[in-house]
Amino acid sequence: MASVPVLEIRNVSKHFGVIKALTDVSFSLDRGEIHALCGENGAGKSTLMNIIAGVLQPSEGEILLDGAIVKVTSPAVAQSFGLGLVHQEIALCPDATVAENMFMAATNRRRSPFMNYGRLEREAQAVMNRLAPIDVRGKVSDLSISSQQLVEIAKALTLDCRVLIFDEPTAALTESEAQVLFGIIRDLRAQGISIIYISHRMAEIFSLCDRVTVFRDGRYVSTEKVADVTPEDVVRRMVGREITQLYPAKQAENERSGETILHVSGLGDGARFRGVNFELRKGEILGIGGLIGSGRTEIAEGVCGLRPTIAGEVRLHGQIMQARSYADAVRAGVVYLSEDRKGAGVFLDMSIAQNIAVLDLKTLTGPTGLLNAKAEAALAHDLVKRLGVRMGGIDMPVSSLSGGNQQKVAIAKQLAVNPKVILMDEPTRGIDVGAKSEIHRLLRDLARSGIGIVVISSELPELLGLCDRVLVIREGRVAGEVEGEAMTEEAIMRLASGIGHNNSKASEHAA
Ligand SMILES: Nc1ncnc2c1ncn2[C@@H]1O[C@H](COP(=O)(O)OP(=O)(O)OP(=O)(O)O)[C@@H](O)[C@H]1O
Ligand SMILES: [Mg+2]
Repeated sequence: MASVPVLEIRNVSKHFGVIKALTDVSFSLDRGEIHALCGENGAGKSTLMNIIAGVLQPSEGEILLDGAIVKVTSPAVAQSFGLGLVHQEIALCPDATVAENMFMAATNRRRSPFMNYGRLEREAQAVMNRLAPIDVRGKVSDLSISSQQLVEIAKALTLDCRVLIFDEPTAALTESEAQVLFGIIRDLRAQGISIIYISHRMAEIFSLCDRVTVFRDGRYVSTEKVADVTPEDVVRRMVGREITQLYPAKQAENERSGETILHVSGLGDGARFRGVNFELRKGEILGIGGLIGSGRTEIAEGVCGLRPTIAGEVRLHGQIMQARSYADAVRAGVVYLSEDRKGAGVFLDMSIAQNIAVLDLKTLTGPTGLLNAKAEAALAHDLVKRLGVRMGGIDMPVSSLSGGNQQKVAIAKQLAVNPKVILMDEPTRGIDVGAKSEIHRLLRDLARSGIGIVVISSELPELLGLCDRVLVIREGRVAGEVEGEAMTEEAIMRLASGIGHNNSKASEHAA
């Protein structure tokens, strides 16, 4: 006798007004399995997870637990059924401590007027220690994005779950943090807990998961044992076509002009980085690698006026750029795509069109000072088309977009000002494989058209596949750079970690 699935979704549809996020999808989860859910940006993955977790109500269809129909009318009800969700977007209280955030849900549920604060902290620390050495008494706002992601995960581990959903948990994690998480997920499986795992990274799915279900355009496509399929099969089912070439061709020898667009010399902020020198040449895509926390983001912020610097200078086409604020940098033609999409990338409550136009208000308002709505719409239409944003319309709020599509809007916002230089921090985080190769192609076209592009990425294959040259940052300094044949994962890792350097062609910068 086949055992009854722990969780079953039957013929669920979900509409937001005219948008059909899910159409008649079914899905089942066995006890003690890790089940991957794949699909392009906007395929409906998070929507279904939010329905399971009681955040959203289905328009049609039902949810069964152990074969019995249940109504998951709220997140609290989901919790009482043992259904837990680690959300795709970080949603912590920044001003509360890690421990307070971790036990927020549990304390709500118990409703005890007596809170034993010391015990709460000890319990939180014990759970946190399984993941990372983060002090639970610290404030969330002081943590890096990757640590905040770990707090979200720790929060879910405090709940007593039978079904635990991870919606792109590794998007903001380092490789080693991800490995720790996989160990924990495997332990949970061994305890009989059932896991739904959403990711755009095929390698993770193939090393971690037992079965894989694919959605496309809000519809169910297939469920298979991971052992029976290849990553190419899964991608084909996701996008409905073959994806052959993953990265666009690099800069050709004859395209090299040697002309410098951006020249950073001796830049330092007195704290996180110092003595930073590099040049960005016309037509190239310059990668910046390094461990999370090495100072990559801070350097980019320093270049574009988001962080005060105390030493050095930045030259744009030979002219000194004095960016005392980000607005100064934007005016000069230097824009920055933040890795923190929610915090600094997009305004969730504003429309897609307003978000795209926000940095370009000067040209859009013209001499009268009134916003030209037509121009705003035209700009937005053009960019959403170029980036393939999946949406209901440009007047919809950004909050209505799937995670990956929000990221595309964040990129569109930068492109709207016709920048001379774009600094991008983890630009394709959360972007599906198909859209990712389109964004890479777009970046290559932009570079070819003369825009200087700097890409900070923690994904080594992206640095190697996309960039012409990679600068590696270690402890707030340029540890070295690799180019051409010397550009290998190993060379970058070696420079990033500072272990056994210089037996490749990688050049070490003098301290
Ligand atoms: N509140 C909402 N209002 C309107 N449309 C919505 C809303 N929430 C989701 N959608 C739409 O539903 C579709 C599915 O979105 P969903 O977030 O489930 O995608 P996803 O598969 O999780 O994508 P990603 O990989 O980018 O996270 C998208 O087209 C999205 O714009
Ligand atoms: Mg999603």
